[in-house]
Amino acid sequence: MSFDLVFFGGTGDLTWRKLMPALFQAFRHGKLPPNGRILAVARDEQTDEKYRTWLHDRFQDVEGAKRPNEEEFARFAEMVHYRRMDLSQPEHYARLKEWLAERTADTVVLYLATSPYLFPEICAQLGNAGLNEPRVRVVLEKPLGHDLESAQEINRVVRSVFKEEQAFRIDHYLGKPSVQNLMALRFGNVLFEPLWRRESIANIQITLAESIGVGTRGDFYNTTGAMRDMIQNHALQLLTMVAMEPPSRNDADAIRDEKLKVLRSLNPFTPESVARDVVRGQYRAGNADGRKAVGYLDEVKVPPGSQCETFVAIRTEIQNWRWAGVPFYLRTGKRLAARDSQIVVNFRPTPHTIFPGLNQPNKLVIKLQPEDGLELHLLAAKGTGQHEQLSPVSLDLDFDKAFAENRVGAYERLLLEAIAGRLNLFVRSDEQEQAWRWVEPVLDAWERDTTGPRPYSAGTWGPAAASALVARDGYAWSEEQ
Ligand code: BG6
Repeated sequence: MSFDLVFFGGTGDLTWRKLMPALFQAFRHGKLPPNGRILAVARDEQTDEKYRTWLHDRFQDVEGAKRPNEEEFARFAEMVHYRRMDLSQPEHYARLKEWLAERTADTVVLYLATSPYLFPEICAQLGNAGLNEPRVRVVLEKPLGHDLESAQEINRVVRSVFKEEQAFRIDHYLGKPSVQNLMALRFGNVLFEPLWRRESIANIQITLAESIGVGTRGDFYNTTGAMRDMIQNHALQLLTMVAMEPPSRNDADAIRDEKLKVLRSLNPFTPESVARDVVRGQYRAGNADGRKAVGYLDEVKVPPGSQCETFVAIRTEIQNWRWAGVPFYLRTGKRLAARDSQIVVNFRPTPHTIFPGLNQPNKLVIKLQPEDGLELHLLAAKGTGQHEQLSPVSLDLDFDKAFAENRVGAYERLLLEAIAGRLNLFVRSDEQEQAWRWVEPVLDAWERDTTGPRPYSAGTWGPAAASALVARDGYAWSEEQ
């Protein structure tokens, strides 16, 4: 199979930090189909050679073992080309079409790694230039819109040019290995499904914690905030994967139909429930990653007095037979105590215990970061006879070790899936719009509420109110258990 892959925003951060290194890994692992061309387009005038040299220098920032050696880079770079393109000029799209027409690749992937406000214009121009034939796929990076209305507008333009099956909306969390394993665990094994419901599960916690701050992205982040940056997309996508009904087939629409049903069943917010069930926070100075960290308001490009949230914790429920009454807690934040992302499924205690003083419920931890893997916490006997006691043990499946040679990073996997034309791991427009529909009342309520986010010190687990949110139900966040 031959492919042409075009990166709009070819000199941008996303391209050199994530996309090109991921493609290189796919190339190194022998997973990239052989007959491929990669074209970066951007505004600067430069030759293929100059672009390759620039990319070579950027690759020096790639972490240790993932960095190519000279010989590998030279072979990879042979595939890489560069063209100047002004995205507002119709004739530049015509030139792109000529480049693509130099040969007839089976697949053309157009990756929009630009600022999202350019998406409507780029899509419209691609349509006018006839760059939307069936072999073309368009990949759209988040953030897809700022609210429901802007997301709908982007989707309207995309739909007027491309068919839904040509649109690949990226949520890189869906490319993470543990998310794939969650699907395998739930739908490839008989063990968990009978327990995967309200009768056996007490609560589910999804934590996406980062220890980094906003870095140099203060201006972008300040107009986005944790709710739009992490909850509307990553956290809700994880929630759908945990809570969905078993799909009838392993195909994109069967899976996405089930995910959409979950989003539609989420308890909608009212101003009262926002005040009760949502906590927003903003970091102040503290210690993070062993170093002094400034507060959010002192980060570069953050306007004084900003009320932007860098932390969100939410309690919600899913209104269906499987999940009625089970709290789902979502939490994300910058400058938290650790980089630690995980889904914790807390089971109910046994109905009756014959081991007095010990009735520690089972817990399944799906770890996404920093390592990926799965831990099942059980009680087992320790000692013998009179001194027999129960003690917590955990069944630890370290995927990093077990499947080391087949591990692929999120972007690597998603790029390969887009080239192969498999939509299973991409977000459909109706899912994305439904997620906006759910978060919007929270954003609206915050806009009206001038008390602003609660402060928390950098390097902690967020405002105390987030612990209280869970304690109210008689539970605790996993690090407090
Ligand atoms: C991105 C957000 O989507 O995800 C960033 O815009 C965040 O703010 C990043 O840092 C986290 O991704 P990961 O894969 O490092 O958890």
